[in-house]
Amino acid sequence: MGTYGSIDVKPLAGSMGAEIGGVDLSKPLANEQVADIHQAFHDHLMIYFRNQTLSPKAQVGLSQHFGKPAIYPFLKGLDGFPEVNALIKTEDDTKAFGGTWHSDTSYKERPDLGTLLYAVEVPPAGGDTLFTNAYQAYETLSAGMQEMLSDLIGVFNSDKLYAGGRAAQVTKLGEMGKAVIATEVFEAEHPIVRTHSETGRKALYISRAHTLRFKDMTVEESTPLINYLSDHIVRPEHQCRLRWEPGTLAVWDNRCTQHHALNDYQGQRRHMHRVTIEGDRPV
Ligand code: SIN
Repeated sequence: MGTYGSIDVKPLAGSMGAEIGGVDLSKPLANEQVADIHQAFHDHLMIYFRNQTLSPKAQVGLSQHFGKPAIYPFLKGLDGFPEVNALIKTEDDTKAFGGTWHSDTSYKERPDLGTLLYAVEVPPAGGDTLFTNAYQAYETLSAGMQEMLSDLIGVFNSDKLYAGGRAAQVTKLGEMGKAVIATEVFEAEHPIVRTHSETGRKALYISRAHTLRFKDMTVEESTPLINYLSDHIVRPEHQCRLRWEPGTLAVWDNRCTQHHALNDYQGQRRHMHRVTIEGDRPV
């Protein structure tokens, strides 16, 4: 864990997550603040800031401290800000975006490195996001299982959960469905044990949502182990839970975490702005 001279860092749970205080993200950040925020990001994997006022332009500017903002292939971004997706569930919508455990865009050759999610409007209760620590998941496997996984390659597919395709599924999201722009299917091969490009630590990189099978194996052969490891990643002791307030910004690392947007606020509105950061090829 690092020490922080320019920000306050309050851990959220034993496994991961931290609230960052003492920063106004709408103002230019000092170099020391940027360095401390990066250190906290690596130490806590998901960091969040309360009571921020962030325009789409400011959110894109902030995201550039983490890398190059990515364009999400399935949804049109905001006018003038193609990197910013509005994630909206209205009072009339029943399905929610991101309502399964996953790491963002793991089906791309270069999955997004991280995500910045800003709460514009949230229900008075419900709509929390769960996160899980995939380093800890790897480190708590037996030495035998770690060894067995060391050379295993997963085939990640954007349509795995969606009969009729992911784009068709997103279309069913009601208000958000109007922003669908692609019907492409993405598929990529990645190691199941992923070495983080900056920290050098190993994390388990597999999910029920996107890992279709292991390379050179059938779906039937692969599914029992995919399910076992997907359950192991999300054991309660690896998790933390973020309760949103309007003005909360969270930043998470997709290389070593997964998240799940809870859909427990039927009949109420939730409106978020999401920017993801281009990543590298997992190794
Ligand atoms: C996502 O999966 O990126 C969205 C998470 C959320 O809305 O809480």
